[in-house]
Amino acid sequence: MEMRYKRRFILLFIFLSFLAACNKENEKTEKPTEENLGYTKTDMDDLKDKNDPYSKSVKRGYDLMNDTSVLLDEYVGNKLSCSSCHGNAGLDSTSSFIGVTAVYPQYNARAGKVFTIEDRINGCFNRSMNGKPLPYNSDEMRAMVSYLTYISRDVPTSIKERKWMEKNRIEKLPEANAANGEKLYKQSCVTCHGQNGEGSGATTGPALWGDNSFNNGAGMARSGTMAGYIKRNMPPVEMGGLNKGEITEQQAADLAAFILSQPRPDFAEKANDWPNGDAPDDVPYSTNSKKVKEESPQGAEGEKKK
Ligand code: HEC
Ligand code: HEC
Repeated sequence: MEMRYKRRFILLFIFLSFLAACNKENEKTEKPTEENLGYTKTDMDDLKDKNDPYSKSVKRGYDLMNDTSVLLDEYVGNKLSCSSCHGNAGLDSTSSFIGVTAVYPQYNARAGKVFTIEDRINGCFNRSMNGKPLPYNSDEMRAMVSYLTYISRDVPTSIKERKWMEKNRIEKLPEANAANGEKLYKQSCVTCHGQNGEGSGATTGPALWGDNSFNNGAGMARSGTMAGYIKRNMPPVEMGGLNKGEITEQQAADLAAFILSQPRPDFAEKANDWPNGDAPDDVPYSTNSKKVKEESPQGAEGEKKK
């Protein structure tokens, strides 16, 4: 190719790259609509100076989610906050709440019935928080629903899925090595989550096992969910050792196998789960409708290895 053509091509290429970059920028900042569904940032800034009853309820919901075990200790049996898994009350991308009220009510296979958003919130109170249900007719429940609805305000209820939600699950995990998981845990996780998984605080390093963690009926107690969460979100800041985005599926599976082999609270009603016999393979307990697995602390993944 002649030199001057080459140069023109290069200029054209730079120009097109520039256009593409601008487009991407727009995708990030525009609100989600039917045409443009991208991950959207929202926060409490718009409400900062407002003191009307509605704004106060929204802000209360945000606070309750960030400091749950302290503000709602009557309903929480561990030392976690909603933000221990749904980072910054679901405003960041660890396990986003943006748009969540647009997709409820929805069928919940674990319960075998249709769930309202309040039912789903209480699913996490019962299991992830190892607690008891927040009364539906309480100002605290109203505040949580107000908050979730507020941060979902731009998401149309007609959507089928929230495309900006990244899945915190790995459906088919490689065979796990818990001993390697323990080694990795000691290298890259103890600073925030503690030598004995006891944690350093609900939003600095939540408890991963023991009395102050989630119970065995929680979604996070399933190896595919925990491994996916670790791979995508951990560690949240660089600490030396493994950094965010560097953890492989194998390492995530190993870490989850180690963490889930440790003791944690028991969810008494777990046998009633998945009443239609459709419990996924990584559910770590047998149910009344699917008694195929022996119970073991390592769950289905542990069973397979024996
Ligand atoms: C130990 C981790 C953990 C904690 C703590 C936790 N959750 Fe969850 N929550 C999950 C997981 C995991 C899911 C998604 C389940 C899945 O992938 O199957 C979920 C799902 C949800 C959903 C449904 C989201 C959707 O997109 O359908 C809501 C609503 C919710 N949680 C509310 C709460 C509230 C409110 C709290 C605090 C009272 C809380 N969660 C605490 C782990 C947690
Ligand atoms: C710099 C501190 C830090 C490090 C290091 C870190 N985490 Fe976390 N972890 C957090 C915080 C903070 C949260 C709460 C969610 C958020 O804000 O991102 C969390 C949440 C979690 C959760 C969900 C909450 C729960 O109770 O189950 C798991 C699982 C987890 N981390 C596993 C790990 C693993 C495995 C490693 C090592 C590879 C790790 N983390 C390294 C700070 C840390």
